[in-house]
Amino acid sequence: MVYEVLARKWRPQIFQDVVGQEHITQTLMNAVKEDRIAHAYLFGGARGVGKTSVARVFAKAINCRSGEPGTPCNTCPSCMEITSGSAMDVQEIDGASNRGIEEIRELRENIKYMPTSGRYRVYIIDEVHMLTLPAFNALLKTLEEPPSHVKFIFATTDPHKVPVTILSRCQRYDFKRIPPQNLILQLEKICQKEGFEISRTGLAVIAAKAEGSMRDAESLLDQVISFTGRKVEDADIADILGIMDRELIAEASLAVIEGSGPKCLEIVDRIYNYGYDTREFYRSLMDQFRNLAVSLIDPENQTLEMSDADRRELRRQAEIAGLERLQQYLNLLIAREEDLRTTSHPRLVLEAILIRLSRLGNLLSFEDILHKLELLEKRFTEGAVGCRIESGPAEVSESPGRYAAPESGPAQKEDRGWEGFLDYVSSKSIPFANVLRNWRLVGLQPDLVELAKGDNTFSASYLDDPERKKRLIEYCSEYFGKEMQIRVVAGEKAAPPLQSPGKNGLKAAVDLPGPIQDVLEIFKGEIQGDLHGKEKK
Ligand SMILES: Nc1ncnc2c1ncn2[C@@H]1O[C@H](COP(=O)(O)OP(=O)(O)O)[C@@H](O)[C@H]1O
Ligand SMILES: [Mg+2]
Ligand SMILES: [Zn+2]
Repeated sequence: MVYEVLARKWRPQIFQDVVGQEHITQTLMNAVKEDRIAHAYLFGGARGVGKTSVARVFAKAINCRSGEPGTPCNTCPSCMEITSGSAMDVQEIDGASNRGIEEIRELRENIKYMPTSGRYRVYIIDEVHMLTLPAFNALLKTLEEPPSHVKFIFATTDPHKVPVTILSRCQRYDFKRIPPQNLILQLEKICQKEGFEISRTGLAVIAAKAEGSMRDAESLLDQVISFTGRKVEDADIADILGIMDRELIAEASLAVIEGSGPKCLEIVDRIYNYGYDTREFYRSLMDQFRNLAVSLIDPENQTLEMSDADRRELRRQAEIAGLERLQQYLNLLIAREEDLRTTSHPRLVLEAILIRLSRLGNLLSFEDILHKLELLEKRFTEGAVGCRIESGPAEVSESPGRYAAPESGPAQKEDRGWEGFLDYVSSKSIPFANVLRNWRLVGLQPDLVELAKGDNTFSASYLDDPERKKRLIEYCSEYFGKEMQIRVVAGEKAAPPLQSPGKNGLKAAVDLPGPIQDVLEIFKGEIQGDLHGKEKK
């Protein structure tokens, strides 16, 4: 059996079938009953709200001889012909494709003839505002002296484009958009009769998407059913209608929190393939980060309406990120929202924002580390005063410039060592500098830079490209004023730098990276237990 689309199958056949336009159907029904029928009607309103349907019911009602007055029987030959579109006396003309004077002339020729079987010849002209001016003028002549056996029904989505001369000769009815409540009720009725299983929430989602058009609501339901079969899960509706389902959003926030650029790009790709709306996605992502923050601040908050599983996932992500970082994400999302709204390249902008978000974690944690380093440095500088007295200046001068960090102290502000170098790289290439910031400086010696790989895939492989490595060597020689070698240490190897040298001081510290050893050596220092605890974060 051929599947008949719902919009067709469910076309109203009597006035009572028409949903949400009672002000119109009631009036027309009474007019038919009382035989007070105007020569011409104009039906205005959005697409899919019942204009054509009402026009046909009306045409049937005025020609049907067997039904109750005002209610077509839908079984007599006249009614059936009109329903099937084969009636000689009722013609539907598409104003958009029959715009010219010729068509209207032909129409004027035809109206001279009496109806073949019914009482009236009815002309339904759809999208009447599309007619050309000469065609309107020809039509106007007919409207000025209409034969009593002819009725016109004009339908249009743009009544204001219809000349006033025409309007003034019509009885005008404005069809309303159908309220969501009525759409839902009608969809429920359809589902029940058709044997579809679908929740009210699901129908509400469809109704919202249909924006007051019953035809759109029915076509959306068609799409959902053709995709899922008669039993429909809410999640499927979200999937099909392009409303962001929670999963995609949760994946997106996780990609950002984990700092995975490739994953972010993949998500944008999926958004495009599904035909999702970028701005809608963006709003949902903002909501998600807001919810993540709320789940930390106030886990019992009423606005966090979701399943337990969703709630657990939310909490898990929120804990990975931490409140401070979540706030940074939100700030950035808010700051960049306008960009997305105004751009003609939403995909590009969305990618850029997501990548930036995913980098934020790294940059922040680097800043965090820097901050801690500063604290450390301060401690060492403070400690140095004491140490110096003990160890004497001679030892300090033994390792001049082997590690840049001491130089970055207050005494030599101009030369800020590695940090200064990073600023210099920033001035050349921001991405390059950002990658380096994601990496970790292990040692900086007069002719050697030792770096530990960054922790995300993109930055970790950045220097695998010989071109980039060459560039880094160039930057170094430009900034430090000498040829330097670059040595890359794997991320894991670099991980234990600050682990448990403990009270054994120098001897146990041989595993430590160069700079720290230097500091220890210079200051005859010793790493305190609590320091390593804080540093490890
Ligand atoms: N008010 C309504 N009540 C019930 N069904 C409607 C209504 N409006 C539209 N429909 C559904 O949408 C289909 C198309 O409606 P139609 O009357 O052609 O809309 P319009 O002419 O305003 O674009 C109908 O066959 C019917 O299934
Ligand atoms: Mg129509
Ligand atoms: Zn009939």
